[in-house]
Amino acid sequence: MPDKVLIFDTTLRDGEQSPGASMNQEEKLSIARLLEELRVDIIEAGFPIASKGDFNSVQAIASEIKDCQIAGLARAKHEDIEIAWNAVKKAKNPRIHTFIATSPIHMKFKLKLNEEEVLDKIKDSVSFARNLCPNIEWSCEDGGRSSIDFLYKCIELAIESGASTINIPDTVGYTLPFEFGEIIKKVKNNVPNIDKAIISVHCHNDLGLAVANSLNAVENGARQIECTINGLGERAGNAALEEVVMAMKVRSDLLKVQSNVNTSAISKTSKLVSSITGFPVQPNKAIVGANAFAHESGIHQDGVLKNVQTYEIMSPETIGLKKSSLVLGKHSGKHAFKEKLKILGYEVGDNYINEIFEKFKLLADKKKDVYDEDIIALVDDTHFNKSNTLKLKNLSIMSGTNSKHVASLELNFKEELKEVSGSGNGPIDAVFNCISKVVGFSPKLVLYHINAITPDSDAQGEVTVKLGYSNKEFIGKASDIDIIVASAKSYINACNKILNFEKNSNMQEGVSEISISNIKGI
Ligand code: KIV
Ligand code: ZN
Repeated sequence: MPDKVLIFDTTLRDGEQSPGASMNQEEKLSIARLLEELRVDIIEAGFPIASKGDFNSVQAIASEIKDCQIAGLARAKHEDIEIAWNAVKKAKNPRIHTFIATSPIHMKFKLKLNEEEVLDKIKDSVSFARNLCPNIEWSCEDGGRSSIDFLYKCIELAIESGASTINIPDTVGYTLPFEFGEIIKKVKNNVPNIDKAIISVHCHNDLGLAVANSLNAVENGARQIECTINGLGERAGNAALEEVVMAMKVRSDLLKVQSNVNTSAISKTSKLVSSITGFPVQPNKAIVGANAFAHESGIHQDGVLKNVQTYEIMSPETIGLKKSSLVLGKHSGKHAFKEKLKILGYEVGDNYINEIFEKFKLLADKKKDVYDEDIIALVDDTHFNKSNTLKLKNLSIMSGTNSKHVASLELNFKEELKEVSGSGNGPIDAVFNCISKVVGFSPKLVLYHINAITPDSDAQGEVTVKLGYSNKEFIGKASDIDIIVASAKSYINACNKILNFEKNSNMQEGVSEISISNIKGI
């Protein structure tokens, strides 16, 4: 049997630390459910001390997810560790992940501690954590730039104090594959009690080497890889889960290891993470990019038709991609529609079906060919736009090369019909200005992204916006055959989240929140 490599997914923790990728509890839960379906071994659900919201999300994930270990991150401080424990303890298999920096530059300038003091903190924090939880992971932050002799001492002490997983991060993505592999080999050969722990790696992608470094570490004895969906994470991100998993699968002849991951859930997990965070996946991204399985040139197409393996080293089905198929037309009934939803992986209740089915009928009236992707967009749209404090009733636009851009909207706001019109630097700006007038605030538009869901010029446009408000970012998403309407609905979707956030923060006045930016890197 090939050796098993554990997959530790940190999309909900390191991934969420990508600037602008924050997610709410419901969004984190829906990602955690797919990570469970993906069969990752460990989900790092968050950094519980960072905020009340983070704590609640970790706790909710720990209570619901049964088939993965649930980890919470903590600095080498009793308070952090206790809070992390309280967040994960309901899990069937909880883990506390505690860390401290071990590189000269981090110890001197950030921690202002010498080697002896860091060793004291390792002993104190790991043994404190081990008294609470049987499953402890310890990380030497900036391990890639730490002195190897000091690393041996730290790791030996962490294991002696109760850690059963030793994670070696290349925090700043500085090392080269052979160099990082060498660190892992040396740790394996020189730390006397290393056989009592699993060696894990956590590589950042600043030089684009996170996946290569992780695989080289596996070659040299690491048996856990920390990674994120779509390679999300601080700065240039972490090793992409889909890449390390597929590399181990496709090249098992050389790597001789395997993961437990159900690769057929990769594509939909990637799509969900992209749609929740508003981070589009680049078309040429390995494994999950839109072009990853596209064959454009004549020579390639000819080869693939003769034998698919001429240009395909893995099949799209392995990651759960189904061929886009023409689905139902405007004469299709509700039963067939329900069956189609099932095939696409959606189990929806009767009320929900009625709502989506009505939207499908409207779409089928306007659009000749309705594809699976259109149906997925309808479900997502209905899901993302559940909140209805603010709803679009009607929209009309006057726009042209030489005329002013004027929008007129009818909106339901707090159960009252509001009519508003206004101008802007283009039709979309005019629409956004109108909506801002009604809600009474003008958030900053941080990101606007539009994507055609299917081929042809009658495709639905899927719009993602990210609005900055009160030092936070709110993502809105919507699709429609009319891209101005899709833009309006996605802006409204994000405004509804702001209104919800305002309502909740008024209700929770007095609850203190430590902002993640105050806590990162301490
Ligand atoms: O990059 C890093 O060092 C981390 C640690 C907290 C594991 O994210
Ligand atoms: Zn990291």
